[in-house]
This record gives sequence, C-alpha cells and structure tokens, in this order.
Amino acid sequence: MKILRTPQEMTAWSTEQAVLNKTIGFVPTMGFFHDGHLALMQRARELADLVVVSLFVNPTQFGPQEDLAAYPRHFDHDQELAASAGVDVLFAPTSEEMYPPGATTTVTVKGDLSNRLCGASRPGHFAGVATVVTKLFNIVRPDLAVFGKKDFQQLAIIRRMTLDLHFGVEIIGHPTVREKDGLAMSSRNAYLEDEDREAALSLSRSLELARTMVANGERDAPSLTVAVKQFILSFSGTAVDYISFVDQFTLAPVAEVNKDTVLALAVKINDRVRLIDNGFVITKS
Ligand code: PAJ
Repeated sequence: MKILRTPQEMTAWSTEQAVLNKTIGFVPTMGFFHDGHLALMQRARELADLVVVSLFVNPTQFGPQEDLAAYPRHFDHDQELAASAGVDVLFAPTSEEMYPPGATTTVTVKGDLSNRLCGASRPGHFAGVATVVTKLFNIVRPDLAVFGKKDFQQLAIIRRMTLDLHFGVEIIGHPTVREKDGLAMSSRNAYLEDEDREAALSLSRSLELARTMVANGERDAPSLTVAVKQFILSFSGTAVDYISFVDQFTLAPVAEVNKDTVLALAVKINDRVRLIDNGFVITKS
C-alpha cells in the first residue's frame, strides 16, 4: 500500500491509473478505523479495480467548541488496517496541503438538507464536509465513492452536491455496521466510559422500539416521537438533541411514517459524548 501525502502526488497517481483504464473506488475518512470504515473499504474493493482511502481530520467541519483537538488519532494502526483491507493508496495530507494559505473558497449545499437535524445543532459543519469532499474528489478523481448510511444526512448532502456540481462520481451508500449489542460503530465511541455504555444503547434500542410500534400499527409520527423520547430519557445520563421521523431523500419531517421514513436521532451521553444513529422504521437497514 502506498502512502501519499500531497495532493500533487495523489492526482499524479490517479491520472496514471486512468490512462491504464483502471477504475478507482474512494473512501474518505477521518481515521481511527473501526469495522464500519473497513466495510466501506471492502465494498470499494469489490466495486473498483483500485481503492484509495483518505485520512484527514478536517478542521473546517468542527465547530469552535467541538472536539477537533481531542479527536482520536492512531495513524500506525490505521495504516496496518487499511493495508490488510487491500487498500492501494492511503492519502494522508496535512491541513496546510488541503487548505493552501489564503484559501477562501467553500462549498455549501443550501437549504433544508444542510439546515435540519445535525445542521441545526452544528452550524457550518456540513459546509466543512462539502468543501473537503469537493477538494478530495478533485484530488483523487475517483469513479465511485463509498459513504456510510450511519451519517445519512451527510450522504444525502454529498449525493445532492455530486449531482449539482457534475462530479461524475457514483455515490454508494453502505449500511451501518454495529457492535454486537447494537451500538453503531463510531470513532467517537472511543470517548465512551464504561458508565456511558448503557445510555449509549438508548439510540439503537429506540430504533427497535419504533420499528416494533410501527409493526404493531402505529403510524403517527408525533406519538412515536413522544414514545421514543420517554424511552431515551429512561436511560440515566441521556439528553436528547433531536428525535425526528424524516423522509429519507428530503429529510423533511413526516406526519405519518411510511416505507421511506427514517428515524434520525442525536443524543448526548452524560453531557460529554454526542452520538447519532438512524434507521428505516419499516424496512430494516
Ligand atoms: P468518518 O467519521 O471517519 O467516517 C468515514 C466514513 O465512514 C463515512 O462515510 C461514515 O458514514 C462511515 N462510517 C462511520 N461509521 C460507520 C458505521 N458504523 N457503519 C458504516 N459506515 C460508517 O464522515 C466522515 O469521517 C467525514 O465527515 C468525511 C466524509 C471523511 C469528511 O471529512
């Protein structure tokens, strides 16, 4: 596996592969790999001739009060995991390379897609994501890119941006990979202490609760929201950021749930760790 550090080296490599008619599958990440990241890499491996993974903790998607400095990093271990997943290139640039001095260009996917849910709690976050993914697409020049459905709002925004800006990159959404107990894997789970673990399970258990209620005939989103809220708050140490039944494409809240409805959740655990999760309420995902 090659490790490339500059955009110039990365683009030169991709250009060589394009001449050889090799397709490139791309997985953007912020590192501290877990089985969710590795599943995305394996998916890219199946779909393309070559796999590029980027590892860049993108400063512009963190708010001023957020965890940029504390974000978990473990480059050597990540390098080993990526190599064993059959990755061809690990692209790990510095901030200075990604944001040249004086950089002032940003990409914003306007409107509800960016403003709702995590966009409401994390102003500027999705502009940071859209900007860095645009840069990465321009540098890596992939044929396809794989993103996790765990961050389904991010996935919806990247799909919109890819269409709007004619990137010509096929966007693949990959199902959420979970721990045995149901907790969605996340690099931020590293922040969870033993005493946070039970409260952290309130998210995946809420998805199960909502599915059971819907299977038993409940369709009214406000009633389901009340039930989910009560359930989450029954775990000690939880504070709800949002509970929303939304359309999977527009992210607009729905009054009655249907097969396109996703329950989206953000919960703060013991006032320290903010976790998100989501899933369809009718077809399991
Ligand atoms: P990061 O949180 O490192 O996630 C990288 C990719 O892994 C994203 O597509 C995310 O949705 C996916 N992922 C994370 N946990 C997952 C899980 N449990 N199951 C399946 N996929 C999972 O998302 C980012 O980084 C950044 O915002 C990025 C897109 C790299 C832009 O900086």
